[in-house]
Amino acid sequence: MKIAVLPGDGIGPEIVAQAVRVLNALGQKFDLEEAPVGGAAYDVAGHPLPPATLELAKKADAILFGAVGDWKYDALARELRPEQAILGLRKHLELFANFRPAICYPELTAASSLKPEIIGGLDILIVRELNGDIYFGQPRGIRTSELPLFKGAREGFDTMHYSEPEVERIGHVAFEAARKRGKKICSVDKANVLESSQLWREVMIRISQEYPDVELSHMYVDNAAMQLVKAPKAFDVVVTGNLFGDILSDEAAMLTGSIGMLPSASLDKNNKGLYEPSHGSAPDIAGKGIANPLATILSAAMMLRYSLGMPAEADRIEKAVQKVLAQGLRTADIYTEGTQKVSTVQMGDAVVAALS
Ligand code: IPM
Ligand code: MG
Repeated sequence: MKIAVLPGDGIGPEIVAQAVRVLNALGQKFDLEEAPVGGAAYDVAGHPLPPATLELAKKADAILFGAVGDWKYDALARELRPEQAILGLRKHLELFANFRPAICYPELTAASSLKPEIIGGLDILIVRELNGDIYFGQPRGIRTSELPLFKGAREGFDTMHYSEPEVERIGHVAFEAARKRGKKICSVDKANVLESSQLWREVMIRISQEYPDVELSHMYVDNAAMQLVKAPKAFDVVVTGNLFGDILSDEAAMLTGSIGMLPSASLDKNNKGLYEPSHGSAPDIAGKGIANPLATILSAAMMLRYSLGMPAEADRIEKAVQKVLAQGLRTADIYTEGTQKVSTVQMGDAVVAALS
């Protein structure tokens, strides 16, 4: 099994290093190959996604990704900014289905900013479309405005669109996922305002007929943002477009107390995937040894389950993570009084030790 390891920027290298240790401790033979990505790649190769890194990602069976981005690259032209690496990988590899589970571990209920009764036992799955929408829509750019009131002024513009096949393929992935869970799916859109959302909703209703065992509901995105903090446990699977999914998945992640706990998978139609923590590169804490490696370690578990066909090993990692939480070990982001604060490496040590 060939795994492309792309640590990236900020805390990326620190957290990926711990996930790699955990993989190596499973006693299986993995062929791990590392390559630079994001700002780190720009520094050494002049591009956030150099051809060699893209080639490695293409030929690997799965990709373990850290995080990209740092303020020091803010002045670069858009096509050279670190974020282009992850957007480029998603697009080039057709990773259109993004799974972002938001699970509240019982031990971490107190770390959430919401009341325990609202988030205790939370287990929802956001399925975000990742290849379309306003993220990639053309035309886009900065031009001279033709609006009568603002004629001649500079104007930025983007295009939001979804074709029927794009909605169908993410819809099927989400319905299949709901089938394996609580059999409820909420499609989030803005059909009261947007044409693309109206088509999205039509397609979701159409394909729902193939899944009579799954209950489909619809929600406007503003209401979904509200319901997520009001009654998050009412959701099971949420399926939504690229932009709404970006926003709602951060919100859902934070409900659980720490975005440092949540893994994610971005899959193509054959379940080849890129696995990364749901959080970003956190340059403010990079190099301090305090980042939480658990989201990346859990992403490695997701990789074993979804792309590498090794569910037993995935279980072992997830159980080990639960064990270290039960032991009271916490990185700074999930620390609460009465628990034991540990570093990034100590957390990795503990997970490795809990594997056996
Ligand atoms: C995410 C991130 C990315 C996105 C950025 C880094 C381009 O926020 O994975 O959610 O907007 O998709
Ligand atoms: Mg995001």
